[in-house]
Amino acid sequence: MKICRFSLKDSGEISKLIKETIKRTNYKDLTKEQLKAWLQHYTKKEVNKLIGKVDFFILKKDSKILGVIFFQKNFIKGLYVNANCLGKGYGKTLLEFAEMKISKLGYNKAILNSSKTAFNFYKKQNYKFIRMAYSKLFGVNFQEYRMEKKLSLK
Ligand SMILES: CC(C)(COP(=O)(O)OP(=O)(O)OC[C@H]1O[C@@H](n2cnc3c(N)ncnc32)[C@H](O)[C@@H]1OP(=O)(O)O)[C@@H](O)C(=O)NCCC(=O)NCCS
Repeated sequence: MKICRFSLKDSGEISKLIKETIKRTNYKDLTKEQLKAWLQHYTKKEVNKLIGKVDFFILKKDSKILGVIFFQKNFIKGLYVNANCLGKGYGKTLLEFAEMKISKLGYNKAILNSSKTAFNFYKKQNYKFIRMAYSKLFGVNFQEYRMEKKLSLK
């Protein structure tokens, strides 16, 4: 297994992975409108737009993508594990990798807005709930959980 930086040639596969994970994992906590808007947010075109805006890393085994994580400064914007490979520690591996990178950038905490679906996963990784966070995607309202974790400086 290796973690490498996002490259444009992977954007189609990444878009498919994220959309499939949302459809198979997050759908139960979303309205129809929210599901549609969230999927729209991760078309190949939208994934390509993230280049230059975020630090984007991919966990790969051979040539298969197992999961992705991306962050901006110390804010983790997304973490998605391939829906066929959940519960194997890949989410934790990616999260710990991002925390190490964020810590090396000089930040002493990592911040994120968690989906309802991932809330207990982040709690298990020692993230503390701070407050509710409200956002809009393609005109649809979302309610997320702002969470933070203290990092030790590397
Ligand atoms: C949340 C997510 C990243 C977890 O990835 P994963 O690879 O299945 O998680 P891991 O296997 O690394 O799990 C690490 C630990 O957390 C636990 N865990 C995983 N998902 C959990 C959940 N939803 N609730 C509670 N615990 C969870 C695992 O059992 C494991 O526990 P252990 O250390 O005692 O064995 C994955 O389910 C996902 O991509 N979800 C959909 C997208 C999403 O909501 N992303 C986050 C918001 S942007």
